[in-house]
Amino acid sequence: MTRIFFFVNILILLLNATNARYAEWEELKPYCSVRPHPQCCASRDDDCFMPYYDSRCYCDVFCFRGIDNHDCCPDHDSVCKGENVSLPTTPAPQPTGTCYDPSTNRQYSLGESFRRDCNLCRCITLGFETTLSCEEDLCVNNDELISHINQQQQYLGYKVRKYDKFNGVKVKDALNQYLGTIPDRSLRTMVDNAPDNPTDYYGMDDVHAYDIRSNVSLVGKIRGVRDQGKCGISWALSTVDVAADRLSLVHNIKSPKEPLSVQNILSCTDKAAKDGCQGGRVAYAWGFIKDRGVVTENCYPYESGQTGHIDECKLHLSDADLQNIAQHRKVTNIQCPSNTKDGEHFNFGPAYRVRDEVRSIKYEIRFRGPVQATMRVTPEFFLYDSGVYRCGGSNFERQNPRYANLAAYHSIRLLGWGANYDQQGQPKDQYWIVANSWGTGWGTSGYFHIGFGECEIQETVIATYGKSTEVLKKKSRRQ
Ligand SMILES: *[C@@H]1O[C@H](CO)[C@@H](O)[C@H](O)[C@H]1NC(C)=O
Ligand SMILES: *[C@@H]1O[C@H](CO)[C@@H](O)[C@H](O)[C@H]1NC(C)=O
Repeated sequence: MTRIFFFVNILILLLNATNARYAEWEELKPYCSVRPHPQCCASRDDDCFMPYYDSRCYCDVFCFRGIDNHDCCPDHDSVCKGENVSLPTTPAPQPTGTCYDPSTNRQYSLGESFRRDCNLCRCITLGFETTLSCEEDLCVNNDELISHINQQQQYLGYKVRKYDKFNGVKVKDALNQYLGTIPDRSLRTMVDNAPDNPTDYYGMDDVHAYDIRSNVSLVGKIRGVRDQGKCGISWALSTVDVAADRLSLVHNIKSPKEPLSVQNILSCTDKAAKDGCQGGRVAYAWGFIKDRGVVTENCYPYESGQTGHIDECKLHLSDADLQNIAQHRKVTNIQCPSNTKDGEHFNFGPAYRVRDEVRSIKYEIRFRGPVQATMRVTPEFFLYDSGVYRCGGSNFERQNPRYANLAAYHSIRLLGWGANYDQQGQPKDQYWIVANSWGTGWGTSGYFHIGFGECEIQETVIATYGKSTEVLKKKSRRQ
């Protein structure tokens, strides 16, 4: 692998360094000739190298693999092949010619660049050759991956498609910018909140479908799908949306007028909570809305999805405010960053974990409302269209090793469950109904289904009560 990257490094050097067109000539300094014995190596030998810029060049026979695919030291030929190559005394001739891209049937002149999906290609010179040099990163919208999965749709249970929003996006960037949860295994051992009545709890085994969005007593109380844009903030977004749902279930509010502000959490949590737009920790989001509360979206609107970064906190609470929060009293007269007079502030009780088992999670959703879950995301998830998503199983990464070990974590909101049924009417392919945060244009109107237990989805399920006083009552009852 290193050796492939070496070549890419050379290209980057060629691209970046001005006047580096004839790097091979200009750099005809001793390399192989000053190596400790042996100067040259007779077979492939990855230890047979010399430092070259901030990379390596090689003095073994394997280094030359064709004119534009080699990582030999500049003096390899003269030292190792006995050829007497001398430094040019006159400037090397200007290479001429253009580059040809067979995939589009287009010509490019020297120095011209273009994008091949997510990869930058440039027409450059290597020695006397004019050649097209392209980055070789994996792109999210990969036709091969899409047809591979869709051919196995019957067996995998879901299908995939291309998304315009992922055009030109590299897999590695998507994992950073569209997800945003730093996994926190300590949450898995947090005290859980098992239901009080074991009968209700076991009774859930026979409830094969429930969708909180269609519970007639909760119409208008469950938040829809958001779009986090290009910033990895699912740790905070799923937290405020679950909290807002819980709030509207506890208070008898007709419909949640305003979402809760995710920017409030992003900008005002301390540094340990997050790594800019690259993700954060859900425990800090829950802790924040307990200790400092959170305002409504109209008071502190979301901006990081557009700007791609997280600005400093623009909402300041006074000591009196903090005291009110500590005593579970409503904070009023908030100075909203948006200057609206209609902003509201809410604070919450402590978050609790829901036990890692299907019936516990079912019970929680049915009787207490939506929950937050964290899942492991691999590249095919970005392409989900419909069906019951599962992690892996497509074999694609076994055939394409570059896809192995590409994963990151994402937090989402579970709203219910369902199943497909076999010919005897028995449930099979049981799944959770989940709200994602990539807008309504993604997946099934912004939602997706994922098989029970898939992608670690049941391992860190978190929720809170809508009102801190509820929790206090509950707590004292249990002690
Ligand atoms: C290479 O050429 C130079 C001058 O042309 C000569 O002095 C030198 O001995 C030659 N070296 C070899 C290894 O043939
Ligand atoms: C609707 O939601 C309420 C409150 O969460 C719950 O008690 C009730 O059982 C749900 N209704 C149905 C039909 O599941």
